[in-house]
Order: sequence, then structure tokens, then C-alpha cells
Amino acid sequence: MEFSIKNGNPEKQRTDCVIVGVFEGQKLTDSAKSIDLLANKALSAVLKNGDMEGKLNSTLVLHNIPEITPKRVLLVGLGKPAEFTEKQYRQAVRAAIKALPKGVADASVYLPEIAINNASIASKVSHLVEVTMDATYQVNAIKSKKPEPKVLTKIAIHVEKADNQQAEVALKQGLAISAGVGLAKDLGNLPPNICTPTYLGEQAKKLAKQYGFKVEVLEKKEIEKLGMGSFLGVAQGSVEPPRFIVLQHLKGKKTQKPTVLVGKGITFDTGGISLKPGSEMDEMKYDMCGAASVLGTFKAIGEMDLAINAVGLIATCENMPDAGAIKPGDILTSMSGQTIEVLNTDAEGRLILCDALTYAERFEPAAVVDIATLTGACVIALGHHASAVFSNNDALAHELLAAGETSHDRAWHMPMWDDYQNQLDSNFADMANIGGRAGGSITAACFLSRYAKKYDWAHLDIAGTAWKSGKEKGGTGRPVPLLTTFLIKRAAR
Ligand code: BES
Ligand code: MN
Ligand code: ZN
Repeated sequence: MEFSIKNGNPEKQRTDCVIVGVFEGQKLTDSAKSIDLLANKALSAVLKNGDMEGKLNSTLVLHNIPEITPKRVLLVGLGKPAEFTEKQYRQAVRAAIKALPKGVADASVYLPEIAINNASIASKVSHLVEVTMDATYQVNAIKSKKPEPKVLTKIAIHVEKADNQQAEVALKQGLAISAGVGLAKDLGNLPPNICTPTYLGEQAKKLAKQYGFKVEVLEKKEIEKLGMGSFLGVAQGSVEPPRFIVLQHLKGKKTQKPTVLVGKGITFDTGGISLKPGSEMDEMKYDMCGAASVLGTFKAIGEMDLAINAVGLIATCENMPDAGAIKPGDILTSMSGQTIEVLNTDAEGRLILCDALTYAERFEPAAVVDIATLTGACVIALGHHASAVFSNNDALAHELLAAGETSHDRAWHMPMWDDYQNQLDSNFADMANIGGRAGGSITAACFLSRYAKKYDWAHLDIAGTAWKSGKEKGGTGRPVPLLTTFLIKRAAR
């Protein structure tokens, strides 16, 4: 999709379709009024006929409006003016883009003109881009019949001339975030026989070449040398070799400590010997979405050439049942030296992340954020709307929550009190890898916290937000918007 920032009256645009808003009560926005005026009240007449109330997300396409230059006018309902926030704005943009008729190759959008409390023009422009890219995303399906090429290829975003500069910057940012989201979706959606640990390693190298990151992709021998016994324990059940990926984007001041992102990259989670039930097991190809979000975020900051020091770490392997696989009762020794009794081989995410968290120490990080599709319990707690934030530092947690609000990729703060820690007690090792059914996402975070004592750390459980099930099955690209916004805000302070 090609976006541009433009100025000028809607009735004069040489475009396949001009998109303007209508509030409930048939209240025309400025650009709709401007069209109406030249068109001898043609819009007012349509509204009077009762075809459109202005209800949020409703749409109406009009052809052959007299006197005006655009081929079509798309009216999109905005709901009640008093209830119109950035959230409704995003919904209206989505509804409009989805409602564009098949033949529209280029559209001119006038929705950023609508005043919203606390929303800058920059924010309206970047959200417009992000929502549009999300709404027009197409899966690279592996089908014998090629998909029809997209007709819609150009979108002009209309703003006041005085806002051009801010809008251009916001456009770049929106495109960068969208590129990151797109990569995370693509990687998540790939079948697990293609998206293997080896494949993720190759993708990291490709990104590094494209954006000038430092990159290392460690193979099994090197991972052994590091003493990552916990990570290797999970990997040992698979014929696919593990990879440990280190990406570095060092565009901040030399003295600035890096912010480290750590991704869970289980390219398929069968549960291992503690085998998962069969239904919907295919969705466990998405168990690498934490890793995908790290790669996606790196793509976004690479696109923006963001002035920050950031490190991305990815532990990636398969979790398979096998004669060589770890068993319940096995004890693993992590890179930190702490020992772990594996009571359930399906609690494998924490087993690979703990070693990555120990590895992170060498960067003397400003903060470490891990991202993982870690627990089914998180989905029970928060559903599919919010990611969970756990942290050993309240300020860091609030930074992430705020980035989630700004980017409309929201998260919710979960407790991580010491009270939960003893659920991980083991008679045979330093800790067990599970803490029982009660508070399952919290005890998982407690497990990780034992490996993150040397720095400010947060954990995002994205089990409920990284992909959608059912008819709309597909990766969401979350939490790339949250993470990128988090880094943008960090770079600016
Ligand atoms: N990858 C899963 C978590 C998951 C399950 C995410 C379903 C999204 C949907 C993770 O590795 C896992 O299996 N966790 C177990 C932990 C349990 C054994 C303590 C779970 O949540 O059931
Ligand atoms: Mn599992
Ligand atoms: Zn898993």
C-alpha cells in the first residue's frame, strides 16, 4: 500500500473514492459538508431518505454525486460526537477500509480532520496507517491457486497544510510499526514445518543485513558451551536443532544501557511427553509469537532507524515427545546454576526463557522485557483483549502499560507477590517448573523472576493476544505496536 499526505478540498480530489464521516443524528463532518455544498445537497438528500443514521461503523457508498470530482463518496458512521475517542476513530477507519468497493484503486481519507480529545494529528495519522494495513493484510497462503492481486494500492491521508510535517513523521512511524506487525503475522502464520528454529535464525540474519543489526545465531554446540541446560532440555526431544538468536541495534549513545527484548520461540508445542490434547493443537505453531514480536519490533525500529540501543534475544526450538525427550521428574540445570524439576514437560516456555534471561545479564541492561505465549491460564484470566504484564519494577510495568494504551495494543498489570513463590517448591531441585492450577500465569511469571534478579525486568504473557482462533484464525502481530511504542518513548527520554 502506498500512502501519501495531502491537502485540499474533498470535492476536488481526482480519486476513486473519497472517505468522509457522518456523526449520529446525520451530522456531517466538515469535509462531508464541503462535498454536500458543491453537490447541491446530494448527501443531505440521501441522509434524509434514511439510508444512513451515522451509527458507528455503518457505511454507505454513493456513486454519481453531481458536480464533484471523486468517482465515489464513502460515508462512514462515527456514532455520537461526545463518545468519539481514538478507539471509535480506529473502528471507523477499519469499517471504511473494509467497505471500499472492489473497483477502488485509490482512496482519499478525510477522517483525521475530526477533533478528538487528547489525540494529536500525528497519532490520528499513524493509527490510520496501522489500522489500514491491519485491515488489508493478506495471508501468504500456500494454495495452488494464486490469490487475485489487490486493487486498492493508494491511500491519500488528508490533513491541514500546517500539519504536513507532523503527519509525514507519523506516516513513517505508522508504516514502520505496520511493517513489524506484518512480519510478526507472517512468521506466526507460517506452517511449523517451514517456520523452524533454523528458519527463524535465517530470518534474523536477513533482518540484520537489511537494517545493519549485529547478529549471532548460536547453534547447539555453542548453546551447550553456554551451559543452557534448561533450554537444551526442551530442545532434546526434537530432530530440529535449536537456535539462540542475538540481535543488536546500537543506534543510541555509546553510554546508554540497552533495552533487551527476549522472545519465546517454540516453533511447535506438542506439550512433549506431557502431551497436549489433539483438538486445536495446530494453533501451537503460534507458540513462537514472542520471538516473532521481537523480530517484528526490530524490523520497526530498523525502519525508523530509532536512536536507541536495543538487544533482541530469541531462544527457539520445538517441544516434541520422543524417546530422547525430557520426562516428568527429570531435573535440569539452568545456565544460572539453579536446578529445575520438570513436573510437566508442557511448561516448556519458562524452561527456555530462563536461560535467555540469564544470558541477558551480560548486556548490563537498562531493562529486560520478555514476551511469551506462556500460559493457557493467562487466556482464562484476561481473555483475548489484553496481554498480561508482570514486573519486578512498577515504573517499568507502567511504562509498558502506557505504551499499550498509546498504541491501542493494551496490557493489564498482574500481581507477582512473593506469596505465590512457594507454589514452585520442589523436594528434589531448587524449584519445580509448575506451580499448580491456581494462578497459573502468575506462578509462571514467578518462575521467570528467579532468573531476572539482576536487572529491571518485565514479562508479557501474550497467550491470549498473539493470534485469533476460529474462522478468523491468524496472527495478530501483537504486541509489536506496544513494544515499538515503548522503545520510541524510551528513545525520546
Ligand atoms: N504454549 C503453551 C501456553 C498456551 C496454551 C498458550 C494455550 C496459548 C494457548 C505453554 O507452553 C503451555 O503449554 N503452558 C501450560 C503450562 C502448564 C502445564 C503449567 C498451560 O498453560 O497449560
Ligand atoms: Mn507448552
Ligand atoms: Zn508453549
